[in-house]
Amino acid sequence: MNIARGKGGLDNWRCQRAKVFAHHGAKVVIADIQDELGLAVAETLGPSNSTYVRCDVTDEEQVKNAVDKAVATYGKLDIMFNNAGTADPSKPRIIDNEKSDFDRVMSVNVTGVFLGTKHAARVMIPARSGNIISTASKILPMLHFIWQVRRLDMLVATIYS
Ligand SMILES: NC(=O)c1ccc[n+]([C@@H]2O[C@H](COP(=O)([O-])OP(=O)(O)OC[C@H]3O[C@@H](n4cnc5c(N)ncnc54)[C@H](O)[C@@H]3O)[C@@H](O)[C@H]2O)c1
Repeated sequence: MNIARGKGGLDNWRCQRAKVFAHHGAKVVIADIQDELGLAVAETLGPSNSTYVRCDVTDEEQVKNAVDKAVATYGKLDIMFNNAGTADPSKPRIIDNEKSDFDRVMSVNVTGVFLGTKHAARVMIPARSGNIISTASKILPMLHFIWQVRRLDMLVATIYS
């Protein structure tokens, strides 16, 4: 999850996303479970532009804490980027798949997006400003949603990759 005052983008193209936010002037809070990588990316972006906070997106308290950290550090939250995601090795036959694996993927890819959206909205609604972007996959139609809260000038969008 990257919070661009601004949230998971650590290596390769994930890191590039954080860099793009920073390049365009965003103060970036990197929220992830890979501490070493997260701290390294934050260091690359520079201490005045970026902060790393450990956050398991399936844990509501940790998501709440990450959002509060962004607001406390940079004054407000302009962009929430729900980018954390996970997948299991492809097992085409349904009978080879375990419920525990299904639950784990859903908790990150669905519950994580729900919690990130909820807690971003918690601070954006009073500010009457903010943007929420969520990454999903076109192979998982149930993750696809897009809605606009025009009344609040908030945009909640899903990026299909
Ligand atoms: N790479 C692709 O081809 C592809 C295709 C379609 C969709 N996507 C989506 O794009 C997003 C990023 O994909 P990626 O290829 O960079 O994946 P990735 O596995 O390289 O990165 C995912 C990030 O999410 C973090 N993460 C995983 N579980 C977490 C948790 N519980 N709490 C916090 N962070 C957690 C990981 O540490 C990692 O930094 C994901 O949502 C993925 O589903 C990727």
